[in-house]
Amino acid sequence: GKGEYEHFMRKEIDAQPEALRGTLAGRVDGDDVDLDTLPDGTFEEIDHVHLVACGTSYHAALAASRQLVRAGLPATAYRASEYHDLQPVDESTLVVAVTQSGETADTLSALRRAHEADARTVAVTNVVGSTVSREADDTLYIRAGPEIGVAATKTFTSQVVALSLLTHRVASDSAAATVREDAAEFLAALEALPEAVEDLLATTEARSVSDAHIGRDAHFFIGRDFEYPVALEGALKFKEITYEHAEGFASGELKHGPLALVTPETTLYALLTGDRGEETLKNAEEAKARGVNVVAVAPEGMAVGGVADEVLRVPDTHPDVVGLLANVQLQLVSYYTAHGLGRSIDKPRNLAKSVTVE
Ligand code: F6R
Repeated sequence: GKGEYEHFMRKEIDAQPEALRGTLAGRVDGDDVDLDTLPDGTFEEIDHVHLVACGTSYHAALAASRQLVRAGLPATAYRASEYHDLQPVDESTLVVAVTQSGETADTLSALRRAHEADARTVAVTNVVGSTVSREADDTLYIRAGPEIGVAATKTFTSQVVALSLLTHRVASDSAAATVREDAAEFLAALEALPEAVEDLLATTEARSVSDAHIGRDAHFFIGRDFEYPVALEGALKFKEITYEHAEGFASGELKHGPLALVTPETTLYALLTGDRGEETLKNAEEAKARGVNVVAVAPEGMAVGGVADEVLRVPDTHPDVVGLLANVQLQLVSYYTAHGLGRSIDKPRNLAKSVTVE
C-alpha cells in the first residue's frame, strides 16, 4: 500500500535508494561486474549494439547507448516503434530490449524482429517471468521492486544503473570494445548512488521551485551529453502528470528553432551537471536574454547567480552518474507541480502502466 504517502509516485521516488540497492546487490566487485545470468564471455562475438524501448525506458536506453559508444562499440537507441528493417541485424548484433513491465507491444515486436535476424538478445526488465524475459536469449532484472504509479520513477533510475553494468560486461567481453579507464571510479559512484539519492531526498527546494513556476505557458528542459536523456525524461514526466506543455531539448539545439517559443511566460529547467554543464549554462543564458525564467539543476559550488532564478542543487559524484541525481530533482518538480494543480498523479488521464497494443 501507500503507507503514509498520498501517492504511489511520491513513495516510489523515495524508494529509489532501496531500489538501487536491489539493482546493485552482489553485482559490483571492485573494477569488475558480476552478472550471474550473463557470465564472462557472453558477448565475445558482439561488435555493435541496438537498444529498443519506449517512453521512459527509451531515455534509459539512450543514456546507455552513450556509454557503449564511449567503450568503442557502435550503439544506437531506437524507439521500438521505429525499429524496422532499415537497420541491418545479424549474429554480431546485440539487441537490448529495455522495458520495465516486460509487456510493451512495440518493444516485444522489435525484439521478435531481432530474433528473426539471428541477433543476440538481452531483456532488461523489472518483472520476473514477463513476456520479454521469456522471449529474450538472456534477462538482466533491474530488481527495483514493484512500481504502481503509472509514471516510471524508480525503475528509470534502476534501469540506467543496470544498463551501466551491462555495458561494462559487454565492453569486457567484446573484442571490439574497451573497458573505460576509470571503471573503478565509475562503479564506485554507482555503488554510492543510493546514499547520494538519500542525501538529495533530504533537501526540500523542489517544492518551492515548483510553486514558483506553476501556471507558466510552457516548461522546457535542456541538457547535453548524459543530461540530454535526462532532459527528455524530465519533460516526459512533467507532461504526463501535470498535463502542461513540456518539451526536452538538446541544449545546443535551442538556437536552431525552440528559442522562438521562449517568452517571459516560459520556464527553462537547465541541467548543469556532468562534464558539459558549463556549455548548457551558456545556452540557458541565451534563453534568459529572451526573458525566460531559468531553474538551474546544478552541482554544489557551481556559480549560476547571473542566469538562474532558482537553483536545485545536486550532490557531487562521477560526471557520468550525476545526471541520475539531477533526474530525481526533476521527478520531485513534476510531482509537486502536478500536486499543486490537483492532477490524478498515479493514474494520469489517457495513460496505462503497460501498453500492450502496437
Ligand atoms: C513514462 C512511462 C511510459 C513507459 C513506456 C514503456 O513514465 O511510464 O513512457 O516508460 O510505456 O513502458 P515499459 O518500460 O514497461 O516498456
